[in-house]
Amino acid sequence: MKKIAVVGTGYVGLVTGVGLSHIGHEVTCLDVDHEKIDLLQKGRSPIYEVSLEPMIQENQKQKRLSFTSKYEDIQESEIILIAVGTPQHPDGSANLTYIYEAAEAIAQTINQEVTVVVKSTVPVGTCQNVKNYIQAKTPFPIQMVSNPEFLREGNALKDLFEGDRIVIGSDDQKAIQTVMEMYAPFDIPMMTTDLASAEMIKYASNAFLATKISFINEISSICEKVGANVEAVAKGMGMDRRIGSSFLQAGIGYGGSCFPKDTKALVQMAGNVEHQFDLLESVIHVNNKQQNKIVDQMKERCGSLVGKRITILGLAFKPGTDDLREAASLVILDRLLREGAFITAYDPVAMPRAKEKFPAVTFASNVKEALAGADLAAIVTEWEEFKELPLHFYDELMNEAILFDGRNCYSLDEVREQNMEYYSVGRPAIEHTKSAPLMHKA
Ligand code: UDX
Repeated sequence: MKKIAVVGTGYVGLVTGVGLSHIGHEVTCLDVDHEKIDLLQKGRSPIYEVSLEPMIQENQKQKRLSFTSKYEDIQESEIILIAVGTPQHPDGSANLTYIYEAAEAIAQTINQEVTVVVKSTVPVGTCQNVKNYIQAKTPFPIQMVSNPEFLREGNALKDLFEGDRIVIGSDDQKAIQTVMEMYAPFDIPMMTTDLASAEMIKYASNAFLATKISFINEISSICEKVGANVEAVAKGMGMDRRIGSSFLQAGIGYGGSCFPKDTKALVQMAGNVEHQFDLLESVIHVNNKQQNKIVDQMKERCGSLVGKRITILGLAFKPGTDDLREAASLVILDRLLREGAFITAYDPVAMPRAKEKFPAVTFASNVKEALAGADLAAIVTEWEEFKELPLHFYDELMNEAILFDGRNCYSLDEVREQNMEYYSVGRPAIEHTKSAPLMHKA
């Protein structure tokens, strides 16, 4: 078993550090954020991720997992993972400030040979530059490895323990061997390559998945116009093994901490080598359009939204997380407020974060309270709680049951049984209500 340090206790660093301790390594997680470290030392997780907190506590108890803010505590590590954030600059390129701060601190700290593993998503060429940077500042030999992560929020521990592949990029065979040994207990196929290709695999994978989503979202818009059903189309496409069925769920557009950031960074990176990445630029454009679509549909249905009481169900960028980064809900809330609507929102876990951002929005404590007296409602995140909500509640609770389902949570057959007007993504609209329409169509 190895002595490992993880620098950065954000999503990736924390999940990876906890997972590595769970398979028996001795792991120290370091973060310059003292508040986070205090919390973690008490066995509390600063992020919402299923099963993470009990796993932290169990491994702390076994004395395999510890947390610190001091670099001297990781001096003895044979492997140092860098998992700090790489936020985006206003032009979409990756901001590497935290990477170089970590590199500087590592160079000042180490007193033996060490393998540095970059898990953060960094532009191609960064790992080599970071290696040169550290090596210029320390006499101890550095081996550099690029080891991108493919963890999905809400599924992170499962993805860590049962991922499809582990990518290990290095120009140093010894370093590749060390990292393969570190991951050996996971029993996941490992793919080894050079530094630059490993860095590119991460961007290319995320850009490809984002492309699948924007593609099916475009198909869904055409389906709406020609009377086809995107769910049947995606199913039929996905049965072709060359296409595959995953990431073909039409919806409200992709959000989160990776796809929006990584697609923009890849366009930027391509531009730096004078390649215009037309396809990916379109993927980003389609996604922006898709995030706005529900508001366009509401306006088309009602004309003006001034004074309308609108309920937003779901704020997180996807279920299973409280993360609001680049969530479609932010675009939707912002636009609806500017249109003059009164908004009530509900999300099972993401409301505390949203409250800080949207003081003008009313936050309900449950779904029924959120729907009471609403003129329109929209489902933005497909939480189980919404999927399981008996549909008659919309009619009973709302002023008039007009639902815009951005995540296709309900089957058209069950909606047809109800007294509601229903607009979903890439499927025919259902426009029957018992009472007269609330407003005339624009
Ligand atoms: C993603 C990648 O999946 C992961 O490998 C990478 O390491 C980080 O980025 P994550 O952002 O956690 O993970 O979420 P993911 O489950 O991939 O979903 C991203 C977004 O795409 C969400 O907003 C989701 O709602 C949307 N999505 C996903 C769709 O709209 N349709 C789909 O079919 C799949």
